[in-house]
Amino acid sequence: SMGEVDQAFIQSIEHRANLDTIEIEGIPLIDLSLSHTTDINILVSEIGNACKNWGFFQVINHGVPLELLEKIKVAAKAFFDQPVEEKRKVKRDEVNAMGYHESKHTKNVRDWKEVFDFLIKDPSFLPASPETEDDEIRALSNQWPETPPQFREVCQTYAREVEKLGYKLLELISLSLGLPSNRLNGYFEDHTTMMRLNHYPPCPCPELALGVGRHKDAGALTIVAQDDVGGLQVRRKSDDVWVPVKPTPNALVINVGDTIQVWSNEAYESLEHRVVVNSERERFSIPVFFFPSHYVMVKPLEELVNEGNPPKYKPYNFGKFFVARNRSDYKKLEVQNIQISDFKII
Ligand code: OGA
Ligand code: NI
Repeated sequence: SMGEVDQAFIQSIEHRANLDTIEIEGIPLIDLSLSHTTDINILVSEIGNACKNWGFFQVINHGVPLELLEKIKVAAKAFFDQPVEEKRKVKRDEVNAMGYHESKHTKNVRDWKEVFDFLIKDPSFLPASPETEDDEIRALSNQWPETPPQFREVCQTYAREVEKLGYKLLELISLSLGLPSNRLNGYFEDHTTMMRLNHYPPCPCPELALGVGRHKDAGALTIVAQDDVGGLQVRRKSDDVWVPVKPTPNALVINVGDTIQVWSNEAYESLEHRVVVNSERERFSIPVFFFPSHYVMVKPLEELVNEGNPPKYKPYNFGKFFVARNRSDYKKLEVQNIQISDFKII
């Protein structure tokens, strides 16, 4: 029996999670404070190795105030604890892609979650359509609920702190690629960075559904705060085994997205990840997706390519790619229609 799980949430057999707990080598944990070493080069090489070998790592002493990390988790719970009629007052729709939604209806298999999305820059600008001949640009704005009180303020304060960390990480990543620290900053002048609050309710059949099906993040970098429940898994690069990202007190999870995979000409890879659910405890997570300005042409950085290492990707417009990807229909056994592999030079 499938209990209370609607057919729309059932994953095909090969995508279901093995819920046995297994002990495996975990992803790196990096201390960003320079007090443990006076040599920034050590930190830079730790970041470089984590990006190269894992695509995922966790950071502590990241500069985001810990009481703010606590506050945002409390705010997320307070928002989702409200009756659904209250949450639907800020529901996303055809016109406004920001706000509350119950799960991706565009997917044939639905994710076992509800979310609240907002942009760090309000408004942000994106192409009106994925069509190359259409050059209309659209402004996207946030929708804020009236309740819970302080929700908006906590979200915005947290987002500003994570934005600072994002720039710090982009600088460390640039250095780790042998580039000047500010090499990537210009791509983010009119960034389209989005923050998401995820709520994964307990699921009666966690062996059949997923909180988020396997996917890669399209942006440059993702910074995720998670609670102590666990469920995020990464497909390990060395052997394709799904490994859990262990909840670690005070830590933030960082992952390299598709844009950095292209900029680095695949020195760093964007890895597949997913979220498994459980029947006991609800889970909250708060990703911030760092997206470049819509007009950025994403391509391997000139300094990183040469005759021996030619560009592996054709240039693509970030905004068009992003809009096409979000519009594309998801098919049951397939990944999204548009992928950076569509721009790969074979
Ligand atoms: C995502 C994601 C991870 C998590 O929203 O893209 O991968 O732990 N979330 O919720
Ligand atoms: Ni993701």
